[in-house]
Amino acid sequence: MDHFEEDLVAALREIVKDGNWQCVGKKCDFDSPCTKLYSEDGEHIVLVHTEDDRFWAMDSSCPHEGGPLDLGDIEDLGDGKRVLVCPWHHFDFCLETGASSMGLQNQVYEVRVVQDMIYINTQNELCLSPIPETDTSNGKAIPSPSEDTLCFWATKILCTPDPKEKVAMTLEVQERWNSGEITEVGQATPPVQPSRKENLTVLQPGKIKRGKGGTQASRIALLHSLANIEQWAIDLSWDVIARFSSVRLDTGEPLPRQFFSDFVKVAGDEAKHYHLLETRITELDSFFGALPVHNGLWQSATDTSHDLLARLAIVHMVHEARCAPPDPLPLAAQGDCSSVEVLEVIYQDEITHVAAGLRWFTYICSQEERDCLSTFHDLVKQHFKGYLKPPFNTEGRKTAGMTEEWYVPLVKPPS
Ligand code: FES
Ligand SMILES: [Fe+2]
Ligand SMILES: [Fe+2]
Repeated sequence: MDHFEEDLVAALREIVKDGNWQCVGKKCDFDSPCTKLYSEDGEHIVLVHTEDDRFWAMDSSCPHEGGPLDLGDIEDLGDGKRVLVCPWHHFDFCLETGASSMGLQNQVYEVRVVQDMIYINTQNELCLSPIPETDTSNGKAIPSPSEDTLCFWATKILCTPDPKEKVAMTLEVQERWNSGEITEVGQATPPVQPSRKENLTVLQPGKIKRGKGGTQASRIALLHSLANIEQWAIDLSWDVIARFSSVRLDTGEPLPRQFFSDFVKVAGDEAKHYHLLETRITELDSFFGALPVHNGLWQSATDTSHDLLARLAIVHMVHEARCAPPDPLPLAAQGDCSSVEVLEVIYQDEITHVAAGLRWFTYICSQEERDCLSTFHDLVKQHFKGYLKPPFNTEGRKTAGMTEEWYVPLVKPPS
């Protein structure tokens, strides 16, 4: 009798389990290595299709800090062991067991392929496109509150490799922040380095030829190198938001909300700059990615990832001030008025970016009763390799509020 009951329970379990098999679509719908499947309760699943034509499924939200595993990479560790690597902090999750070498565990689901249809064993109803939660008062779609913070989006944008998507998401988040639709700054750990498209050829910074704009090829080279800088600038703006969101000043105070609003504005400007440059490059019959690029700007972000004052000083005051667009005269001489106009827009905005860096640097110094100038000079000497090189755009810097006393002492003294 005992056996009979055990068998019965086991059979019932099988029936219940069988009842949870969900058909999610045809095999040919899942050509890409990772596909996100949405579920109504927010427990989305990533369906992984490996090169040996096998399928795997696990929760798409990383158990570490909620990173998007559907944007992760699959890595073969040998011995038939494959892992899905989270794009945020590179924790790995075994496709078979969901275990991570970092000690975390992700939920995995059984997958079956029957007559070219894919089935996943889960109680959740799954769907290939997002299921909008509806606010019944006006029928408008609203994202789940835990996902709808500034830092969540900042991190998501940093992990988005396609610059066009980066731009679109940046502009959308800027609009939603400004309109009060996103209210929380939130918290998230941004990735060590932002994602980039795989088709980019990356060289050492010194190996890139930045054109001067005298010929069509050199105009494209010039605009291309600026577009690359702007793509990094978008990421740098989101990184300062996400990385330092929970910083406390020496006074114990958090950063004022305006700090975040200012850098959202900078991010939006950089997105606009990238878009303008990319459009110009396309009009000149080329495309972004046609020429090699460098990742030099991120080195300063890495060097200053532990210290907000150092980050503001090096990235937002030294680099931003040096990133003024080049002399537009050769472009004008070629009759390329459209490119000249783009450079002019960028130039005016960049002045406001240096002003934002300066404003927050001096704000923190004054709150913490530090001397602004000597703190700035010490940080630049510590984190910036070499001296600052003239000539400087004194007028532009002055408009941003950065008078000569800030940077002249950092120039190599005459020998
Ligand atoms: S969120 Fe995935 S590793 Fe940190
Ligand atoms: Fe810019
Ligand atoms: Fe900028």
